Amino acid sequence: SAIYLKDYKVPPFLIDKTELTFDLDEATTIVTSRLHMRRNPAFGKSTAPLILDGGEDVKLIGVAMDDYALPPEEYRISEDKLIITATADEFVLTCETLIEPQNNTRLEGLYRSSSMFCTQCEAEGFRHITYYLDRPDVMSVFTTTIIADENRYPVMLSNGNEVERGKTDEGKTVVVWHDPFPKPAYLFALVAGDLAVKNDVFTTQSKRDIKLQIFTEAHNLDKVDYAMEALKRSMRWDEETYGREYDLDIFMIVAVDDFNMGAMENKGLNIFNSSCLLASPETTTDDTYLRVEAIVAHEYFHNWSGNRVTCRDWFQLSLKEGFTVFRDQTFSADMHSETVKRVEDVSFLKTAQFAEDAGPMAHPVRPASFIEISNFYTLTVYEKGSEIVRMIHTLLGAEKFRAGSDLYFDRHDGQAVTCDDFIAAMQDASGFDLSQFKRWYSQAGTPIVKVKDSFDEATGTYRLTMLQDTPATPGQPTKLPLHIPVRVGLLDEQGNALSAELNGVAAKDHVLHLQSSEQEFEFSGLAAKPVPSLLRGFSAPVKLHYDYSSKDLLLLLSSDTDGFNRWSASQQLAVNELTTLINQAIEGKKLSFDSQLVHGFKTLLNDETLDPAMVALILALPSQAYLSELANPIYPAAIKQARQHLKSQLAHALSADFERVYREHKIQGEYQATAKDIAHRSLKNIALSYWVETNSELAQQELVAQFQTANNMTDQFAALSIAVNSQHKQAAELLAAFYEQWKEEPLVVNKWLMLSASQEQERALATVKGLMEHPAFDLKNPNKVRSVLGGFGQSVTGFHKADGSGYHFLADQIILLNKRNPQIASRLCTPLTRWKKLQPELSVKMKSELERILAEDLSKDVYEVISKSLA
Ligand code: ARG
Ligand code: ZN
Repeated sequence: SAIYLKDYKVPPFLIDKTELTFDLDEATTIVTSRLHMRRNPAFGKSTAPLILDGGEDVKLIGVAMDDYALPPEEYRISEDKLIITATADEFVLTCETLIEPQNNTRLEGLYRSSSMFCTQCEAEGFRHITYYLDRPDVMSVFTTTIIADENRYPVMLSNGNEVERGKTDEGKTVVVWHDPFPKPAYLFALVAGDLAVKNDVFTTQSKRDIKLQIFTEAHNLDKVDYAMEALKRSMRWDEETYGREYDLDIFMIVAVDDFNMGAMENKGLNIFNSSCLLASPETTTDDTYLRVEAIVAHEYFHNWSGNRVTCRDWFQLSLKEGFTVFRDQTFSADMHSETVKRVEDVSFLKTAQFAEDAGPMAHPVRPASFIEISNFYTLTVYEKGSEIVRMIHTLLGAEKFRAGSDLYFDRHDGQAVTCDDFIAAMQDASGFDLSQFKRWYSQAGTPIVKVKDSFDEATGTYRLTMLQDTPATPGQPTKLPLHIPVRVGLLDEQGNALSAELNGVAAKDHVLHLQSSEQEFEFSGLAAKPVPSLLRGFSAPVKLHYDYSSKDLLLLLSSDTDGFNRWSASQQLAVNELTTLINQAIEGKKLSFDSQLVHGFKTLLNDETLDPAMVALILALPSQAYLSELANPIYPAAIKQARQHLKSQLAHALSADFERVYREHKIQGEYQATAKDIAHRSLKNIALSYWVETNSELAQQELVAQFQTANNMTDQFAALSIAVNSQHKQAAELLAAFYEQWKEEPLVVNKWLMLSASQEQERALATVKGLMEHPAFDLKNPNKVRSVLGGFGQSVTGFHKADGSGYHFLADQIILLNKRNPQIASRLCTPLTRWKKLQPELSVKMKSELERILAEDLSKDVYEVISKSLA
């Protein structure tokens, strides 16, 4: 049954103080809560019963009101709720509950990972710990007492500051933590285990010393230095960029191996999936280094955008997530390269978020309803949500945006608020009218912007006509025009940037405000028809169509001052060429095409003034996933074949250039995760991937040599991936050697699992079944499940096998995980939700698997995704 935004009501009760005691034990954990409650004056006068949220895994031992133990007739339990009919206006409710963290396979609430206890309470995990008002607009001051055997759990952590330590009569250790900042239960955290710690100190702008601690299992302590430095950079950046200083005296991070998501921003005690925290040159690739830095920053930034100012209800999730993603993206751009970061983020958005927006789970950034909130931690809420904040930044300009964020934090500190409150602060501080713009929060689907142009020689006027239209999405058949900022520049035939006048303002770069379904923009002062550079920096999350010639695209690729659009032009050119090839493949024709990209690539490979990272990004052909998003229907094998054909053509035409670039960009010396070194490695490795396509014996040998001698995981894993993807004759041998070398490092083994599962081969399905029986596999560990099944989804021969056995296998795994870990099971459904877009023969096979899953007794998580997919 669905929950609707329009039904929101303030809570009938408040909890001013929450006192929790955890008696931790391997068999049963006893949780005692003392909740200092009162009726909420904002709710109005009422005699409404007290209804607390719980879970079927929480056993109630006893409940008391102001120390009067309630007899069974004075309360009842119905559908996971604890209902108490008669209450005073103000009282202390004491609840004693029993839970079994060791049997918690959902990884929500309190659970065990390796030998430690840890928690994940967002969004609704706290109710699996004890009965509570588990909603983000109930904010409370928490005091947490942890009782445990110090020999097994020498480290016992919770939010805030440690205020007391002692012993029980039985000799167990007691530690008390107090967090002075009121917070919702989803930010509660507890950790107990035998952990090693790295200590550091950060001195804030106002000269307060903050104690920093990162905890891991002892054998991983040598992999936290990078995260610690990233944390300090984040703290400094938030002071400088947003004026936000840290507020407690201590900030802790704990790495755990079993975690459903990336990481969690619990107040003062962030908990991370170890894959998003640990890093060392030998075991971690460049991508992962950047990801660790971004996630450390993201969780840290939540201290203000999420914790000090939190969400009123879960429909407002993007209030904290969209804004915080925008903050972490800007941070990473500042630490490295703005253009490279933008290309990576946009590429991801256009591949994965656009696909979500075009599928059965499409929803607005602020959803209007949901069945299970865990299903709405989506690319739309996070990434498109960030694009909304970025557009506000574009519309207001940096200075007024900062005034807006200052006002937002100031006005709402300590409150649980809505996306409307965020917009209101931005509008009030800037005077900029955002009333139409707000529709971005409530309208699902990716807008399509069609652009036509004309030039009037007599007056020197260039006219752009723009039409916008947002396609229908489930539950939203018609859409209103959005306020879309379109950043535009104009180039002459030689590629020079032109200054042109728009509404009396002359500039080389303009932001157009597209606000109607059709609108014209007139530029004057031009000598000839220019080539437009449209949607610079991807100024809005839309699909823009303009009929560029290959010549125009090559000009933009070589000359645009907007680095992002140079990349974008190369992608468009490649998409155009690949589309022709894909159609040939679908029709069963022999593939043949005279690629224009050869010329563009040749110039790039010989231009030493360019950032090698940008060259590498331009050389990467549009992915299988992105081409699938563009296609309708999707012919997976045809896309694969077309990409392969174009790559091979480019490789043969430019083989000498690729070989030279491969050699020129080898780095000597120690590994460093700096933008500069990462750039050289990425260009070198993509050059190698092309060079190997020519079947040159020398290239094959170079690849093996790189695999064997690399002093870092980036180069070693690049060599291995290229070997696997190019069906190198030694691929199997290298894969085996890699496992042998790294079998003691779980995070590296996960990469091996993923690559092994993604192989294109006739027996792909047998391979993946073998991997799930492999000693390195563990169904309880979400990272391993994601590696194997995520990798398998990339294998066209495996997953999209014509007889449907790949889909059948994935469906079996979803059914297996459905009850055990509903969040993971639900996420595994994503590839199946695309069934309507698949080529007809595959589409029916996918659909019947969805129907087979729907016939099972499903968790809310899986039920929502599957039923909406079939609707
Ligand atoms: N707030 C966390 C983050 O964005 C994500 C937590 C998601 N948890 C969940 N159960 N869906 O960093
Ligand atoms: Zn977040």
